[in-house]
Parts: sequence; structure tokens; C-alpha cells
Amino acid sequence: MIAKLRKRTLFRHPLSAVGAAIFLSGGALFLLLLLIDITSGVDNPYRALVTFVITPFIITIGFGLFLLSIWIQVRSARRRGEKVSFNLSIDPSDPAYVRNLWLFLGLTGVLVVAVIYSGTKAYDATDSVAFCGQTCHVVMEPQHVTYHNSAHARVPCVECHIGPGATFFVKSKIDGTRQLFATALNSFSRPIETPVHNLRPAQETCEGCHWPQQFYGEKMVTRTYYRTDEDNSPWTVKLLVKIGGGNPRTGKLEGIHWHMIGSNRIEYVAADAKRQEINWVRMIGPDGDTTVYQDPDEDPPDFDDPTTEIRRFDCMDCHNRPSHNFLAPATGMNLALSTGKISTDLKYIREVGLELLNAEYETREEANEAIRTGLADYYRDEYPDLFAGSKEKIDEAVTAMLDIYNQNFFPEMNTDYRVRENNLSHFVNDGCFRCHDGYMENEKGETIRNDCFTCHLIVSQGPSENVNQLECSVAGLEFKHPEDIDEAWREMKCTECHTPESGY
Ligand code: HEC
Ligand code: HEC
Ligand code: HEC
Ligand code: HEC
Ligand code: HEC
Ligand code: HEC
Repeated sequence: MIAKLRKRTLFRHPLSAVGAAIFLSGGALFLLLLLIDITSGVDNPYRALVTFVITPFIITIGFGLFLLSIWIQVRSARRRGEKVSFNLSIDPSDPAYVRNLWLFLGLTGVLVVAVIYSGTKAYDATDSVAFCGQTCHVVMEPQHVTYHNSAHARVPCVECHIGPGATFFVKSKIDGTRQLFATALNSFSRPIETPVHNLRPAQETCEGCHWPQQFYGEKMVTRTYYRTDEDNSPWTVKLLVKIGGGNPRTGKLEGIHWHMIGSNRIEYVAADAKRQEINWVRMIGPDGDTTVYQDPDEDPPDFDDPTTEIRRFDCMDCHNRPSHNFLAPATGMNLALSTGKISTDLKYIREVGLELLNAEYETREEANEAIRTGLADYYRDEYPDLFAGSKEKIDEAVTAMLDIYNQNFFPEMNTDYRVRENNLSHFVNDGCFRCHDGYMENEKGETIRNDCFTCHLIVSQGPSENVNQLECSVAGLEFKHPEDIDEAWREMKCTECHTPESGY
């Protein structure tokens, strides 16, 4: 035989069988994940990482191995001096081919099962709360911890942060990739910036679960406070909060939820990035009549400036911390005292505890150590009898305070109540008083309503933890400020005295 030209199949080398098996199982996984992705409706940037980065990577490796096997075969044929013309034909008479066929079939069987199993597992994992909160542990720790203390602890992160649909899918892919890089390069900002600008409008997230026209009526809220005196004297305020909403029986829009339901529309321009200072508000009523409220001492916003954002007031302008609420130390102390986790028998505990919680710390370890030793030192020095006799109560107080600190303060991320305003009230942050401030007025000189009865009735108040001992009235009582500050609370915002420096 002189003819050196032999037609040979490309499947003579075992590597081609291995490559093809990997290629096929990667392809199968990709199709499967793509199908789940399309049908699930919920998008997630990290999940896409598995589908669109890891799976194609497997496919590429398979294909690469296959090409490598061709190159090896061509080279060795050349070395043997053979002139080859490889093709993809099936050649059952070739024993090498038959061996590789079995290798290919067996390996594909094993790989398809293994790759699909681990691939779908990885895919599910990226969708989970644990992945969002723990993979980027330090970055997301503040949001993750507070999330678990919230009413939404069972609502997956993606339900509020991404939601269904194509545009936000793409946006979140881009954002997710940027976040991955920022985490890898350690270049993220501390604290993470807020407000979240590409957060989906509330209509598409919150309102998927909470029907805005729902009538909530009135809600009774009891707050127990403790003073900064030796006895940690209690003070209770019981409020009937007029949440309101759309009343299906009367057809009226009422109370606090009046702002954004039906055809009501409130818009505002914020003067600062965190939307805490508002000097311009526009109200568009059901019949299209418009009222503008403006602060007479401030220049009106520059509407020719393209960066001026007229924002439509929606759920998240009040409920901006539905899932990541960082308690102020005074609020945390009051709560722990009212539930008995900290004993009111410990003299000045409200004041000393607050100071320890509110101090500046670099790390969590430093803070925990300072709280532990600080409290013990205080009682050893100031109240030696108490220190000797109530060791247990002091230990309990330390435990409760560490809990408050570790659940609400994240020094490594510079994140706590001081940078995470809560807009749902007007006590710790301006919240409602950003607009209901008595300054902004319309053309007729009227201000946005701000008398104390507009939003809630005080039905009970006074110096006791036991509401039965206090004056009560369902018709509403005139507010009494616990400390004698004259009529200052009528003229000033609460936050002018209750400041972050003071623990609120
Ligand atoms: C009930 C809806 C909801 C859920 C569930 C939720 N978030 Fe949020 N998240 C929000 C809102 C609202 C904001 C603040 C928006 C603003 O002020 O612009 C926010 C803000 C954030 C921020 C920006 C920093 C900040 O504190 O403002 C991060 C990071 C974050 N969330 C991560 C998570 C993670 C991780 C999870 C799951 C463990 C999660 N979120 C679950 C609604 C939610
Ligand atoms: C996937 C469904 C779901 C989504 C999305 C959702 N919530 Fe909720 N929300 C719930 C459930 C369930 C509860 C009740 C939890 C309970 O009572 O234990 C709740 C409770 C609440 C409460 C009352 C509890 C409290 O914190 O005092 C508020 C307010 C609230 N949600 C606001 C919001 C806002 C604002 C958004 C959008 C950022 C939102 N929710 C998105 C399911 C959802
Ligand atoms: C003007 C501010 C404001 C806006 C806007 C707003 N809320 Fe509220 N909402 C409140 C206040 C205040 C409460 C009572 C606070 C509390 O629970 O202590 C409340 C309570 C709730 C509750 C709990 C009701 C209950 O019985 O405990 C839910 C759920 C809720 N809001 C959902 C929404 C949703 C969804 C939207 C957007 C469609 C929205 N809110 C818009 C201020 C607002
Ligand atoms: C962006 C500005 C803005 C913010 C912030 C705001 N409001 Fe309003 N609110 C208005 C305007 C404007 C009106 C209508 C003018 C009026 O009634 O004086 C109004 C009216 C109301 C009314 C009367 C509704 C009715 O039945 O007629 C209540 C109650 C109310 N707001 C509660 C609240 C509460 C509670 C908060 C904070 C959680 C809040 N508002 C935050 C702008 C705002
Ligand atoms: C624009 C609506 C609005 C007006 C006006 C208003 N409040 Fe409030 N107030 C709220 C809301 C909302 C909360 C939070 C209720 C909750 O936690 O559910 C609140 C909470 C409070 C609390 C409890 C504080 C806390 O968070 O521990 C006190 C006390 C109070 N208000 C007193 C007053 C007094 C006094 C006035 C009159 C000077 C007043 N409010 C006017 C909306 C209003
Ligand atoms: C002129 C300054 C000033 C203003 C304005 C003011 N407060 Fe106070 N407030 C104080 C002082 C001082 C105390 C006493 C703190 C203590 O017990 O040592 C206090 C204590 C309180 C307490 C009780 C205990 C605690 O936990 O601190 C409540 C509740 C309270 N204020 C509510 C309000 C509300 C609501 C407003 C707005 C309507 C308001 N205050 C406005 C100065 C002020």
C-alpha cells in the first residue's frame, strides 16, 4: 500500500470524547437554567452569574478540550508523515473509535447528572437570603442583621430589590457585576450609599403584597420611655395612629395613607441627597387642581437644571426602613427597660447605658469591650453596694446592651441610626415634619397641616409604665412633654433637641 492518505475519524483520541461530554453536559445545564430563569419571573444578578458566566465557562472548556484533541491528532499524524484529512464521520470498524464511543457515552451520563445537580444547586444558592447577606458578609451585614429583626424577615431580598421584568433584570445584572467588582477590590463605600437610586418603584414591589387601597383604620401604638434620672422614671405615651387608606364602604380616602392613593399625587424636590430636607412640594388633586407649597425663606428649586429630580411621593418615602431599621440607642434602651431585659433598679442605667452605646468606636470588639467594662466600672465606683449585691442584674444589663449594640451598630461599615434616617415618624428624624413643618406655605399663605391631631390622637400619657394609672381619653389629650420645656415643643421640631448626639 503506497497510499498514505487515510480518511480517519476525529474521535480516535480519548480527549475528544472527554471534551464532547463536558461540552454536552454544560449545554444541557445552560438550557435548563435558561428555562428556569425565563419561567421563574424573579431575577437576581448572582443567579445570572451561574447561568451566563459559569455554565458558558464549562461549555468553553469542553469545546477547548475537543479542539485540543484535534490539534494533538493532526500533529501526531504529521509527525508520522501521514497526510490526513480528518472528518467527523462515524467509523465503527475503528477499534479506537469504538472505545472512545463508550468512554463518551459513559462520561456524558455521569457528567450530565453531576453538572446539572451542582449547577442547579449553585443557582438556587445565589437566590437565597443567605447568599445576599453572607457572601458579601461585611458589606451587607448591617442590612442582613436588621432584616432578620424586621416584619419582612421571611420576604426574600429580591422581592423588594429586583422584582419581575426585563428592564430591571438587565439593570440588576449590570449593578450586580459592579457590586461584585467593588467587593472584590474592596472599593465600596462605607456606609453603602442610600437612598438606593435604582430601587424599583413601590407600585411594583410593595404593592404586589400590600394592596394600597386597603383600609387600615387606626392603629394603637404604645411607647414607654425612661428618663435620665437616678430612678430611670418611666413615661408612657399611647397613640392612636390614623393610618387610614381608601375606605371601600364610604369611598373616602382618609388618614395618613391618603397621600398616594386614588388619583392623589404629591411630588417634591429634595434639597439634599438623602431627601431629608424638603422646601418644595406640589399636590395634584383628583380633579387636577394643583397646589404648590414652598419655604418662603429658600429659593425655589431650579427646574432648568437637569439634575433637579421631581420625585413622586410613594410608600418608600415614609417606609424607607421597612426591612433595615437601625434603632437609636435611646429607643433600644427604652425597649429593653420596658421589657425587663434591663432592670430599672440599676441607678442611672438609662443615662450610662445610652452614653456607652452612643460613643464612637472603630470596631465591634472595641465597642463590646467598652460596654462590658464601662458598666461594671461605673457601678463599682459609684454604687459599690449595688455592684456587690446586684451582680446578676448588671450582667443581664450588659448582655441586653451588647444585643442592642450588635443588632443596630456596624462600626466597620460606619452604619447605624446616625446615617440611616427613618422617615416614619418625626421624633428621631424629621420624617413627616420634612413637609408638615409649619414653614412651607401655598399662595394663600396656608401651611401643610401640622397640629398634633392631624396624624394621631394621644389617648393616654404620663409618668408610669402602667397605662391604667394614667389619664386616658379616646377623644385625644393635649400633649404633655415629660420634661418641663414650656411650650417649646409647639414651636420647634422635636429633632432640634432630640439629636443624634443626645442618643436620638
Ligand atoms: C420589604 C422590602 C425589602 C426587603 C425584603 C429587603 N430590602 Fe433592602 N432595602 C429596602 C428599602 C426600602 C431600602 C432603602 C431604600 C432607600 O432609602 O432608598 C433598602 C436598602 C438596602 C440597602 C442599601 C443600604 C441602606 O441601608 O439603605 C442594601 C445594601 C439592602 N437594602 C440589602 C438588602 C438585603 C441583603 C436584603 C435581604 C437580606 C434586603 N435588602 C431585603 C427594602 C427591602
Ligand atoms: C412578598 C410580599 C411583601 C412585599 C414585597 C412587601 N411586604 Fe410588607 N409585609 C409583608 C408581610 C407578610 C407582612 C406582615 C409581617 C408580619 O406581620 O409578621 C408585612 C408587613 C409590613 C408592614 C407592617 C409591619 C411593620 O413593619 O410594622 C409594613 C409597614 C410593610 N409591610 C411595608 C412594606 C413596604 C413599604 C414594602 C415595599 C418596600 C413592602 N412592605 C413589601 C409582605 C410583603
Ligand atoms: C405619608 C407616609 C406614608 C406613606 C406614603 C405610606 N405609609 Fe404605610 N404607614 C405609615 C404610617 C405612619 C404607618 C403606621 C406606622 C406603624 O405601623 O407604627 C403605616 C402603616 C402601614 C402598614 C401597617 C398597617 C398595620 O395595620 O400595621 C402597612 C402594611 C403599610 N403602611 C403599607 C404601605 C404601603 C404599601 C404604602 C404605599 C402604597 C404605604 N404604606 C405608604 C405611613 C405611610
Ligand atoms: C413630601 C411632603 C410630605 C411628607 C414627607 C408627608 N406629608 Fe402628609 N401631607 C402632605 C401634603 C401636601 C398634604 C395635604 C395638605 C394638607 O392636608 O394640609 C398632606 C396631608 C396629610 C394628612 C391629611 C390627609 C387627609 O385626610 O386629608 C395626613 C394625615 C398626613 N399628611 C400625614 C403624614 C404623615 C404621618 C407623614 C409622615 C409619616 C407625612 N404626612 C409626610 C405632604 C407630606
Ligand atoms: C404629619 C403627621 C404628624 C403630626 C402633625 C404629628 N405627629 Fe406625632 N407622630 C406621627 C407619626 C407617624 C408617628 C409614629 C407613630 C408610630 O410609631 O406608629 C408619631 C409619633 C409621635 C410620638 C411618639 C414618638 C416615638 O416615636 O417614640 C409622639 C410623642 C408624638 N408623635 C407627638 C406629637 C406631637 C406632640 C405633635 C404636635 C406637635 C405631633 N406628634 C404631630 C405623625 C405626626
Ligand atoms: C427644647 C428642647 C426639646 C424639644 C423641642 C422637645 N424635647 Fe422632648 N425632651 C427634651 C428634654 C431635655 C428631655 C428630657 C430627657 C431626660 O429625660 O433627661 C426630653 C424628653 C422627652 C421624652 C421622654 C424620655 C426620653 O426617652 O427621652 C419624650 C417622649 C419626648 N421628650 C418627646 C418629645 C416630642 C414628641 C417632641 C416634639 C413634639 C419633643 N420631645 C420636643 C427636650 C426637648
